[in-house]
Amino acid sequence: MKRIILTAILALAALTASAQTLVVYYSKPGETYTPDGIINLKKGNTQEVAERIQKFAKADIFRVETVKTYPDEYMKMIEVSKEELNAKARPAIKEDIDISKYDTIYIGWPCLWGMMPVCMLSFIEKRDWTGKTGIPFTTHEGSGFGTGLRDLKAAAKGATVTKGLSLRGTAARSSDAQIERFVTGEK
Ligand SMILES: Cc1cc2nc3c(=O)[nH]c(=O)nc-3n(C[C@H](O)[C@H](O)[C@H](O)COP(=O)(O)O)c2cc1C
Repeated sequence: MKRIILTAILALAALTASAQTLVVYYSKPGETYTPDGIINLKKGNTQEVAERIQKFAKADIFRVETVKTYPDEYMKMIEVSKEELNAKARPAIKEDIDISKYDTIYIGWPCLWGMMPVCMLSFIEKRDWTGKTGIPFTTHEGSGFGTGLRDLKAAAKGATVTKGLSLRGTAARSSDAQIERFVTGEK
C-alpha cells in the first residue's frame, strides 16, 4: 500500500514538474495612439509586457506575426484594421507553434478598435484549447479589454479563462511590480 501511495506521489510530482507555461502575444511596433498624441514605438507595448511576464513566469514565449505587413502610420493602420474587422478577416500567421505541451498560456494583445486584433483570432481559433488555462493580458489607451475577453472566450473553446491584466500602453515599461504581482498572484 505504502509503495502504491509513494508511486502516486512521484507520478504527481513528475506531472507537476513537466507542466509548462507559454506566453503568446501579438504586438505592433510603429505609430500608436496615446492621449498626449501619436507616438512611434520601436518595440510594441504588448511585447514589453509579454517579455516581463515571460521573465516572472519563467515561461516560453511566442510572438504572433502576420504574413502581411501592416502600415506603420497610425491613420493608415486605423483604416486597415477597420476593413479587416468589417470583413471578419483571419490574416495568415507566419510561424507556427505546437501549444499541446503547455497547460498554462498567457495570451496578450493590444486593444484595437475596442477588441482583440483579428490576427490573434486567426491564431487562437485554429488550436485545441481543451483543458488549458488561458491568462489574458492587454495594453490599451482607455478601452481596457473592450470586447477582448469575450472574443477570447469564444475563440479558445475548452479553455478556462482566468482574470486578466489590463495596462495602459504608456505604462507598459513602468509596471514591473504590478506585472510581477499578476504572475505570482501576490496581493
Ligand atoms: C489601429 C489602432 C487602433 C486602436 N484602437 C484602440 C481602442 O479602440 N481602444 C484603446 O484603448 N486603444 C486603442 N489603440 C491603442 C493601443 O491599444 C495601445 O497603444 C497599445 O498599447 C498598442 O500595443 P502594441 O504597441 O503592443 O501594438 C489603438 C491603436 C491602434 C494602432
